[in-house]
Amino acid sequence: MPDSRDLELLIHGHVPIITIETHEENRALELITNASRKKFLPTFKWTVTDGLQRLDLSLDPQRHVSDPQDGLKHIKSSALQGIYILLDFNPYLKDPVNIRLLKEIAMIFDGNKGKIILLSHLLNLPDNLQSMSCNFSLNLPSAKVLEKIIRDEAQKWQASENQRVRTDRETLDRLIQNLSGLTHRDSKRLIRNAIIDDGAITESDLPDVMQAKYKLLNRDDVLSFEFETAHFSELAGMKKLKNWLKQRQSIFTQDTETKLDVPKGILLLGVQGCGKSLAAKTVAGIWGVPLLRLDFGRLYDKYVGETEKNLRQALHTAEVMSPCVLWIDELEKGIASGNDDQGTSKRLLGTLLTWMAEKSARVFIVATANQIDALPPELIRKGRLDEIFFVDLPDTLNRSQIFKIHFDKREINYSEIDFNRVAEASKGFSGSEIEQAVVSAIYSCRATDAQINTEIILQEINNTRPLSVVMAEQIQNLRAWANERTVPVD
Ligand SMILES: Nc1ncnc2c1ncn2[C@@H]1O[C@H](COP(=O)(O)OP(=O)(O)OP(=O)(O)O)[C@@H](O)[C@H]1O
Ligand SMILES: [Mg+2]
Repeated sequence: MPDSRDLELLIHGHVPIITIETHEENRALELITNASRKKFLPTFKWTVTDGLQRLDLSLDPQRHVSDPQDGLKHIKSSALQGIYILLDFNPYLKDPVNIRLLKEIAMIFDGNKGKIILLSHLLNLPDNLQSMSCNFSLNLPSAKVLEKIIRDEAQKWQASENQRVRTDRETLDRLIQNLSGLTHRDSKRLIRNAIIDDGAITESDLPDVMQAKYKLLNRDDVLSFEFETAHFSELAGMKKLKNWLKQRQSIFTQDTETKLDVPKGILLLGVQGCGKSLAAKTVAGIWGVPLLRLDFGRLYDKYVGETEKNLRQALHTAEVMSPCVLWIDELEKGIASGNDDQGTSKRLLGTLLTWMAEKSARVFIVATANQIDALPPELIRKGRLDEIFFVDLPDTLNRSQIFKIHFDKREINYSEIDFNRVAEASKGFSGSEIEQAVVSAIYSCRATDAQINTEIILQEINNTRPLSVVMAEQIQNLRAWANERTVPVD
C-alpha cells in the first residue's frame, strides 16, 4: 500500500513533527507501528487519559505523565529517542508552554531518530511549529483495497452464518465504484450492512449505500440527494434528447479508459411546465446513477463570504459521489447576470465554470432554465456544455402520450377515451397543464361516480386558458432565440 510506504519515508526523514488529521485513529496507529517496527524504533503513544505507553514492547502506561505538560517534559528529558504519538492533542496546542516544549523537543530531535506525531481528527498547528512539521494524509482505499474489504467482510459473514454470500461480478464492480471516496472504516461499515440484511450483495443494496455515503459526505444542505428519479417511459417525447443520452450512457457510466470525451453536461431551456425538471430526473434514472440537486438559492442564505466556499464544498461532494448527475434547477434564478449583490453571483458563476472546465470526475450537469435574458452569456458559450436543448410545447402525438402516462400513473382505465380528439383539443397545452386536466377530470368523475370519458376531459380542456395563450409573446421570443442557438429535444 502506498500509505505505509509514504509514512515510512516520512518517519525516517529529517522533519521532526508529523501531523495526521483523520477519523481513522486505529488504522493510523497500525500504520505508524508497522513503519517504526521495521526500523526497530521505540514507539510511544500519549493520551490525556492514560499518559505515555510504550507500544512496541506492550508495557503498561505511565499514568503520572498524563498531564499534557508533564508528558512533553518527560519526552524532552528522556534519553530514549523514538516515535512519540500524541493523540487528540489539539486542545493543548493553545497553551504557549506546550508550544514551546514541542518546539524544544523538535529541535533536539531534528536530524535524529526521534519524531513527534500528532494524530487527531482536527489539528491547528501554530505557525512556529508549521515550519518544523509535515502533514501526512491517509490514502482513501483504492478499488483493489475495497475489493479486499468486501472479501474480508463476506468471509466473516460466511464463517458466522455458514452460508456463502451471494453476489455477481457486475454488482460488485458497481459497489466498489460507489464506495470510492470513503474511508476504510466507513466502507467497511456500509459493506457489512449490505451483507447482513439478506446474506447477499445485490442491485437493491446500491441505493442504500449511495444514500449512506451521501449522508457521510454532506454536512450542508446546499446539495440534496433526490430519491425520485424517473424512467424513460414516464417522459413523453424528447426523442432526440433520449437518443443523445442513450448514446453516451456507456461512456459516462463505465469507469474505463476512453479516448472519447466524457459527457460534461447539458442545459435544458424551454417553456414552463414542459418537462425540463422531469427530464433532468430521467437522466439519472436511465443512466442508473445518483441524482444530486444543487440549490443555488440556498447558497445565498448562508453567511456572507461563505457562498463560494459552500459551492466548492458541494462540488467536491458531487465529485466524490461520481458517477452522478448534478442537477441545477432554474439556473437563472441562482446566477442571474446583472444582479446587484456585490458581484457574488458573478463569482459563483466563475467558480462553477472553472470547475466545469477542470473537472475530471464523472459528474454530469443538467441545468434547467426558462428565461433567456437572465442567462449569463459565459455559460452559453460553445464548449462549456455539450449541448443546449430546447424544450417546446408538446406536439399532438406527444400530448396524447402525456395524457396516457398520467392516466397510467394513477391506474385509471382509459379505454373509453378518444385520444386523437383530446390531443387535438389541447393544442398549446404544456405537459403540466395536461397533467392538471387529467387530475381534474378524475376528480369530477369520482364526484359523480362516472367512468372517465372523452367529454369530461374535453370539458376540462375548455375550462383552461393555457399559458401559451396568456404568454404568447414571451414564448414566441423564446422560440426565436432558441432557433439559432439550441437543439430541439424532439
Ligand atoms: N414530456 C412530458 N412527459 C410526461 N409528463 C410531463 C411532460 N412534460 C411535463 N410533464 C408533467 O408536468 C409536470 C411538470 O413538468 P416539469 O416540472 O418537468 O416542467 P418544467 O419544464 O421543469 O417547468 P418549470 O419551467 O415550471 O420548472 C411533470 O411533473 C409531469 O408530470
Ligand atoms: Mg422545472
